[in-house]
Amino acid sequence: MFFKKSKTLLGLNIGSSYIKIVELKDSGSRYTLQNFGMAILPPDTIVDGTIMDSMAISNLLKDLAESLKIKKKQVCTSISGHSVIIKKILMPIMDEDTVENTIHDEAAHHIPYDIFDVNLDFQILGPSKEAEDKMEVMLVAVKKDIINDYIGVIEDAGLNPVVVDVDHFALENAYEYNYDGATEEVVALVDIGANITNINILKDGTYSFTRDITIGSRMLTEQLQKQLNLNYQVAEQLKMGIPAEGVGKDEARKIIDDSSFTFTNEIAKTIDFFHTSAAGNQVEKIYLCGGGAKLPGIVSTVQELTKIKTEVFNPFANLIVPEKSFDQEYIREMAPLAAVAVGLALRKDTDK
Ligand SMILES: Nc1ncnc2c1ncn2[C@@H]1O[C@H](COP(=O)(O)OP(=O)(O)OP(=O)(O)O)[C@@H](O)[C@H]1O
Ligand SMILES: [Mg+2]
Repeated sequence: MFFKKSKTLLGLNIGSSYIKIVELKDSGSRYTLQNFGMAILPPDTIVDGTIMDSMAISNLLKDLAESLKIKKKQVCTSISGHSVIIKKILMPIMDEDTVENTIHDEAAHHIPYDIFDVNLDFQILGPSKEAEDKMEVMLVAVKKDIINDYIGVIEDAGLNPVVVDVDHFALENAYEYNYDGATEEVVALVDIGANITNINILKDGTYSFTRDITIGSRMLTEQLQKQLNLNYQVAEQLKMGIPAEGVGKDEARKIIDDSSFTFTNEIAKTIDFFHTSAAGNQVEKIYLCGGGAKLPGIVSTVQELTKIKTEVFNPFANLIVPEKSFDQEYIREMAPLAAVAVGLALRKDTDK
């Protein structure tokens, strides 16, 4: 039917450090932010992408949805980490139905898990530049038990998970929507989370390369704890710039800078690797998101190491954020952490 507005879903990003919820309203040419909220998770609730305390998450999620007065039940969520495998593979040129029928056998060669333990998806990217009779296919595999765990906690919170995506594509969505007019052909979206730093390189807005580094901003908290003999909460606050008794500002900053170098250096190395392997493609801009994007000096460090223009990603850039409903300062502060959740909220009920 013409003019029928498509239904939006609640964007729910269950990170290992914060749960984020974003609700958007389809308001014609642009989306309007309807709801945004976060809840902090205790440190060992999710370890290595695996839910360790499902009750804690479903309770927090339920409380968060209630406190935000969210009516909508349909959720789009995502998974990241080692249970997600995204690979570009070469297959003989064939139509989509034939890929559908053969992808299981093909994937078995590329995935380190039993093929019956994963959910598979794919996208034909186009003809291969390396082999004339081949095409590039993006293969996505996500472990079923992990998907089921996430579905379980969402259902226990009284919500209905209708789409389970992966963080990478949510970020891609958020980028596409908010940076529609971006002139760069090749960009890197880097999500520095608590435990994982996820680097996505997009060419012309679609997937080109992705890599996870299994360190993130949590490591800095741990270093502050260890080196200054602090508890988790105090170290976490110190990292965010809230002074701790008996700790000099410079002392803390040095630990943060030294430790963050481990992952900023890995980001630079990954982008270098992309340059040497992706004939002629140069990353023109780096966008940082995730809580780690808020670390003091991180933008300039990444820019210096890579020699590529770097800025903080703003997933609210193209959204209408009504002044009367939202504290604009809070939205600005939390923007980098909301990137995945916004990308998820942009998915429609009718999407695959
Ligand atoms: N102002 C700040 N300064 C420095 N670090 C911050 C700030 N705000 C949040 N963080 C850190 O960012 C991390 C949370 O970021 P984010 O929400 O992107 O992670 P997550 O999605 O929960 O984790 P992951 O994706 O790794 O599972 C935490 O480690 C938190 O300490
Ligand atoms: Mg995250």
